Amino acid sequence: MRALLPLVVSTLAITAMAASFTVTVNGTSSHAIPSTLYGFMFESGDGGLYAELLQNRAFQQVTAGTSSALKAWSAVNGAEISVVSNTSPLSSALPNSLQVTIPSNPSGAVGVANTGYSGINVQQSWAYNASFFFKFPAGSTFVGQLTASLVGSDGTTLASSSISVTGAQKTQWTEFAATLKPSKTASNVNNKFVVTLNGGSSSGGQTAFFSMFSLFPPTFKGRANGMRMDLAQAIADMNPGFWRFPGGNNLGASIADRWIWNNTVGPLQERPGRQGDWGYVNTDGLGLKEYLDFIEDVGMQPIMAVWSGFSFAGPVSSTAIQPFIQEAIDQINFVIGDPSQSAAAALRASLGHPEPYELNYVEIGNEDFADNSGSYASYRWKDFVTTLSTTFPQLNFIATSFVNDPVLSPKTKFWDAHDYNTPSWFFENAFRFDSFARDGTKYFEGEYAAINTDASNLFGNGPTRFSFPQMQGSTGEAAYMTGLERNADIVFAASYAPMLQNVNNFQWTPNLISFDAANVYLSSSYYVQKMFSLAKGTLYLPSTLPSSTGSVHWSVTRSSSSGGQVFIKIANAGSSAATINISLPFAVSTTGSVQVLSGAMTASNTPTAPQTVVPKSQSFTASQSFSFNAAAFSVNVLTLQAS
Ligand SMILES: *[C@@H]1O[C@H](CO)[C@@H](O)[C@H](O)[C@H]1NC(C)=O
Ligand SMILES: *[C@@H]1O[C@H](CO)[C@@H](O)[C@H](O)[C@H]1NC(C)=O
Ligand SMILES: *[C@@H]1O[C@H](CO)[C@@H](O)[C@H](O)[C@H]1NC(C)=O
Ligand SMILES: *[C@@H]1O[C@H](CO)[C@@H](O)[C@H](O)[C@H]1NC(C)=O
Repeated sequence: MRALLPLVVSTLAITAMAASFTVTVNGTSSHAIPSTLYGFMFESGDGGLYAELLQNRAFQQVTAGTSSALKAWSAVNGAEISVVSNTSPLSSALPNSLQVTIPSNPSGAVGVANTGYSGINVQQSWAYNASFFFKFPAGSTFVGQLTASLVGSDGTTLASSSISVTGAQKTQWTEFAATLKPSKTASNVNNKFVVTLNGGSSSGGQTAFFSMFSLFPPTFKGRANGMRMDLAQAIADMNPGFWRFPGGNNLGASIADRWIWNNTVGPLQERPGRQGDWGYVNTDGLGLKEYLDFIEDVGMQPIMAVWSGFSFAGPVSSTAIQPFIQEAIDQINFVIGDPSQSAAAALRASLGHPEPYELNYVEIGNEDFADNSGSYASYRWKDFVTTLSTTFPQLNFIATSFVNDPVLSPKTKFWDAHDYNTPSWFFENAFRFDSFARDGTKYFEGEYAAINTDASNLFGNGPTRFSFPQMQGSTGEAAYMTGLERNADIVFAASYAPMLQNVNNFQWTPNLISFDAANVYLSSSYYVQKMFSLAKGTLYLPSTLPSSTGSVHWSVTRSSSSGGQVFIKIANAGSSAATINISLPFAVSTTGSVQVLSGAMTASNTPTAPQTVVPKSQSFTASQSFSFNAAAFSVNVLTLQAS
């Protein structure tokens, strides 16, 4: 519902003592706003955006015989279960399988259950694709039913599908695939995916092997092996310009565990998975092609990282680095190469995408300032960028050590800056890029977030560290973002980080978007990103500068079409309201709309109070000169129609 409010009158009455600013807007644009300005940085693994519901689905990168190899699995009705590597596997990429042994004198079906990533969302209106591979040992006398089902927390079967099997006929790996249609929506997410064998009392002691289980709900845009709908929609709703992947931190902590592009493409059973950098195994089901298809589906462009020869155990030596550069070349060719010239590109074509994907930016490494040996400056940057830019002259390569420190040779045209800091740091640094040289160098604010109010213990997990974004931080970030728009002639992209948090299992706070098995919790900082992105405009209009020492900041942009929309963003990161008198150099229609995100300093959207701060839209009466009241700790995006 939209109310037409005479904003000038109502705000003046209540803010007599508020700070007051006059903002005169210049109608001549100083620079364009790049389409890539706002986007996402993704460095997560499974159990979130990737829609697969089963955890540890293929026993990748676990040690057979250990109890930790059975993570997320449990025995059903007395079965003996263990992860084994001594049977001929489904594929060399998946050496482990699950052995299920029926107890003597079984009573009913026995088997194994998976609890998902902190639960499984069972919806009546959804059809689930359930699948796995199974085989019986030579000499098996098993005859009976093999069943896949969804079982509720009270033991009720919500959906199931069975086949009759004779063990003697199935001594080679065989795929079981079924659609599971729940008879009702489960009352909570404590549901299980259960696979059982029922061979009657004579089946005691019989064994079966299983591999590569999978359970998919419907996905975003219906992609097979695709993305979780609600999370993907939250991403798409921001109309993002880019997607930075696969990290960030998740490119690889050791040489052996680095992200290797060709281990992430092709059939799922050919993907070995890898130990990710955040303490858990990545299935790599969300692989290079899945990322690229998602990027296309949402209309973003990739900012793709290549592993640059750094592990926490030390860098790859200059004499040993060539194969890793070749790996990066192959990775890039998979994305943009000509199938008639490159095997990697031919692989892409064989997977259904003969046309190249869009690719303009490639990031060489991640946070290479963490390499105390100085190898990024002394040879890794040079070796990678020299070969890659000769091979792909059309691409822009981004460096990842501290901006201008050290100076890189060859000089980089693109830097990735990362800033985790206090709320006040962000509004105090809104003018940071104003002083940067206009010498052709461009900047990517690849990671930033207000994370803590205590500057002396920024990364500590004490009481001042934010669990979820708070309004004091979100408004500080918004103030900083007005500075990014003012400097969008040299800042081409920016992304809040990190992006996703499973509230039941996480390594870092705060995050942009939180979720559990059934819900998505959008933070105040998410709303800031979305409000700015949807109103980014295409041209920046200079206006009276805010005070560089104040907490009220603004930015004015417009769409390039004549008579287009004008966007005025006002971030008030301070504890008192502010009046902003806006004077435009052109006429505007009298009805404007404003989105307001406002709340108490520490207000935060949490799983128990997810709607504490949400943007509210209203209409207001505008004219060429009008006054607007920006509440304490508020972000305001005004949209006007130039007439
Ligand atoms: C803003 O406009 C109001 C009402 O017209 C006026 O009272 C106030 O002094 C103005 N503030 C500035 C800084 O010009
Ligand atoms: C508006 O901006 C243009 C271009 O930057 C500049 O030449 C002009 O002087 C500005 N006008 C005013 C009134 O400040
Ligand atoms: C589910 O299976 C159907 C039939 O094989 C397929 O068309 C669809 O893409 C699958 N969906 C997902 C999310 O895998
Ligand atoms: C990936 O490519 C490397 C060579 O660059 C090769 O050794 C490896 O076997 C490939 N992996 C897969 C899964 O194809």
